[in-house]
Amino acid sequence: MDLNVVDDAVAKRITAMVERYQGVKDADLYYYNQPISELRGGARVIVKGREMGMYASYSYLGLVGHPRINEAAKKAVDKFGTGTHGVRFLAGSLTIHTELEETIAEFKEAEAAITYSAGYVTNVAVISALLGRHDYVISDKLNHASIVDGCLLSGAKFLRFKHNDMSELEERLQQVPDGSARLVIADAVFSMDGDIIDFPKMVELCKKYGAWLMIDEAHSIGVLGEQGRGIEEHFGLPGTIDIKMGTLSKTIPSVGGYVAGNKDLIAFLRHTSRAYIFSAALPPAQAAAANEAFKVILDEPWRVEKLRENTDQFINGLKKRGFDTLNSETAIVPIICGPDELAFEMTRECQQKDIFALPVISPAVPEGLARLRATVTTAHESEDIEHAMDIIEEAGKGMGVIS
Ligand SMILES: Cc1ncc(COP(=O)(O)O)c(C=O)c1O
Repeated sequence: MDLNVVDDAVAKRITAMVERYQGVKDADLYYYNQPISELRGGARVIVKGREMGMYASYSYLGLVGHPRINEAAKKAVDKFGTGTHGVRFLAGSLTIHTELEETIAEFKEAEAAITYSAGYVTNVAVISALLGRHDYVISDKLNHASIVDGCLLSGAKFLRFKHNDMSELEERLQQVPDGSARLVIADAVFSMDGDIIDFPKMVELCKKYGAWLMIDEAHSIGVLGEQGRGIEEHFGLPGTIDIKMGTLSKTIPSVGGYVAGNKDLIAFLRHTSRAYIFSAALPPAQAAAANEAFKVILDEPWRVEKLRENTDQFINGLKKRGFDTLNSETAIVPIICGPDELAFEMTRECQQKDIFALPVISPAVPEGLARLRATVTTAHESEDIEHAMDIIEEAGKGMGVIS
């Protein structure tokens, strides 16, 4: 690489990454960052002029492009324009922000809510505002990167437990000295594996050891619970999460993140979390889109039901065909390939037959567990899913992933 200046650790790091990336590109196995020119109803996309079945979307309930949501966004632009004129704390909150926070609080059955400009930002801002260096944070090993970054930034003592292993969580809780504040944090649905945290046991342990409980519902809103309200509804344990975090960029077809909880918690965050005080808010169109989307979820419960049916069809069909889908019970379905190269090759086979799914490789997942990570949504029809599975099966047989 022609960095022209220095040849130090930074330059070497950049060179190593570029070489890895270039190697994959040269082998014609690079499928990240593809240009999508059209989203066709959520189940299909146009990529470089070709229509493909979409199996990499987080729009779990197929709400991208929903007429009511589009209309709400357009009205917000007409009313407020496109920007937020700065930081809400000083420049003033738009009424659409307050409305959105009330809607979220109601949807999450909490007293209040606060929003941030991204889900990533929310985790970093909230964890680092709540915890300091004398506190303890206990995190599942597969938690999302934004949680890890929030924990590190907080300076709190950072303890981790084996993925979804509640006896190890209990050991970690026992390690915390008496009198120290402790926060337990986990994804509700894990973004690489699609499995669900053992929430009832986690709630029980947090009560037993006096720990705060924070759950990231990025992949469970619209997915879990009869009405799609999330993990508390799924397990019939309302009011058990202290800090209910979620994003507005997946099931909710917008961008941003939120925390819902009791009034004092939200007031604290509004006056201490740096991403709220020192960074601009969501644009009005995105706030209005998110606000409307929560209402659509409750008004169109068939979407949650259909997602469940599609998920069952997809997971059961893949398992029947011989694939290892780990413990996924949700719309995120890992199709285990093994080595990174095999995941890339499976992707190429699927993409060449117009199935848009992407590989996830190390270090995002453990070495040897590289996968084709496919998602299914409400927008898919049963025949689409059957067709996609046939293509994936053909690729899997050709690559020796299944026999
Ligand atoms: C579990 C989890 N939390 C947080 C985020 C960050 O959300 P956003 O993309 O809205 O910033 C993601 C995004 O992939 C996620 O999967």
